[in-house]
Amino acid sequence: MTYQPLKGQKALVTGASSGIGAGVAMALAAAGADVVVNYASSAAGAEKVVGQITALGRKALAIKADVSREDEVGAMFKQMFAAWGTLDILVNNAGLQQDSAFVDMTLEQWNKVIGINLTGMFLCSSLAVKEFIRRGINAEVSRAAGKIICMSSVHEVIPWAGHVNYAASKGGVKLLMQSLAQELAPQKIRINSVAPGAIQTPINRAAWETPEALSSLLTLIPYGRIGLPEDIGKAVVWLASDDSDYVSGQTLFVDGGMTLYPEFARGG
Ligand code: BGC
Repeated sequence: MTYQPLKGQKALVTGASSGIGAGVAMALAAAGADVVVNYASSAAGAEKVVGQITALGRKALAIKADVSREDEVGAMFKQMFAAWGTLDILVNNAGLQQDSAFVDMTLEQWNKVIGINLTGMFLCSSLAVKEFIRRGINAEVSRAAGKIICMSSVHEVIPWAGHVNYAASKGGVKLLMQSLAQELAPQKIRINSVAPGAIQTPINRAAWETPEALSSLLTLIPYGRIGLPEDIGKAVVWLASDDSDYVSGQTLFVDGGMTLYPEFARGG
């Protein structure tokens, strides 16, 4: 039997039909949680993740919602509470890129990225926190009244030309997470971020799909390999579990050293 620090807990992972979100949903389930698999458009992807989770003997439920829309987020939480009664862990994972040189960037591209990556975290966190406060601590499952893990990025600290909307959204996630953590710690709610570096998923396919692109990417990763969704899943499980009960308001970088200024290994 594997170690199951999340046994008996209910989790919601946004954007869980592919990529990092799917990996996180699987890791939470392997650690004992039942998981709501939120998706925006890929019902087939979400159902595949649901199938993998139920094969592990856990419960899973796919729910469609665009996290940038208040009405859809409200309906998702309603459906989740009707099915499972409560929530212990929210993973604010849904995110996307709409890349453009700044001079060509449209307001639509800006709003889309801020809407999903940042406003989506506000909307989901708001409803999760209300439930955590209503229910309080359930000592049978956790020492905290609730846990939120925000999927940030190395780009919460690394500026990123050609991706101003994305970097601004992740910079926003940093202080959203820290301010929420500061405000809600007295209510025993823990909020932290995981900041992935380059993880092999559809969002950055162009950066790893050819040998040339991959070798150029690897010059930015001291540890010498691209990351996998399971690398992020393991970090999220730890932040969701009581093993990190004294950790609040932190960003855990899971990036193979990408934030270590790798170009300075040979210069400066
Ligand atoms: C981005 C990826 C990128 C990685 C490292 C992530 O946040 O979504 O496209 O490869 O950061 O730059």
